Amino acid sequence: MPTAQPAPLTVIEALHSTPSRRYLSPQPIEDAVLWAILDAAVRGPHGGNRQAWGWVVVTDSDVKQQIAQWYREGWQRAYGVRRAEILAAPPSADGVSPRAFHAMEHLVEHLAEAPVWIIPVLRNAAGSDNPRLGSSIYGAVQQLMLAARAYGIGSTLTNFHSGHEDDVRALLGLPADSLTMALIPLGYPSQGRRAEPKRRPVEEVVHWGRWDGTRPRG
Ligand SMILES: Cc1cc2nc3c(=O)[nH]c(=O)nc-3n(C[C@H](O)[C@H](O)[C@H](O)COP(=O)(O)O)c2cc1C
Repeated sequence: MPTAQPAPLTVIEALHSTPSRRYLSPQPIEDAVLWAILDAAVRGPHGGNRQAWGWVVVTDSDVKQQIAQWYREGWQRAYGVRRAEILAAPPSADGVSPRAFHAMEHLVEHLAEAPVWIIPVLRNAAGSDNPRLGSSIYGAVQQLMLAARAYGIGSTLTNFHSGHEDDVRALLGLPADSLTMALIPLGYPSQGRRAEPKRRPVEEVVHWGRWDGTRPRG
């Protein structure tokens, strides 16, 4: 049993208060808490319940430093090169806000300091052309992040490491048919708060019955 107990949250409260947390303290996470979080994650759905997945727990500093370098490259390609443009953008309900950009950049610079990373891995996935492949693991990934939140631990679903997929596979000794589906740094938040994730209004993205169908929320 973990010494830390999960917060008594309703599911709905948790769903509305689990944003990405990118400012993480290096404070270690108790093994028993990690096991509890992972045990909640693997209750998530998998096509045909085949559970062709693995959950790699990374704590080794050298391994983290190496992968963090590859992650930085991915970040630089996708966002770093657009720094000035993103920071000057007007406020908007979607896309990366200047605040989120600074948080993402902070995570790039401090990724290896997060005490634990979880790398969810799917088997029979390398080279797959199934566009719905991720549906067999991202439900469980979200369960992991919600379970972490219950223990006061912050997380972010990231994937800037993926440009070095083969290198990560070799470094972690993953099976040849596997694909890393995310890299999730876990840690106790060092700043920020559990604000409700900002999204476009639900009425704007819901299509009732068919794409051109609308319905007032009431
Ligand atoms: C497929 C996917 C990839 C993502 N990759 C990264 C990433 O590499 N780095 C990062 O900081 N956040 C990453 N995120 C987190 C998103 O930026 C975040 O969920 C989004 O900005 C909404 O913010 P919120 O989670 O705080 O509500 C990713 C999210 C998804 C779903």
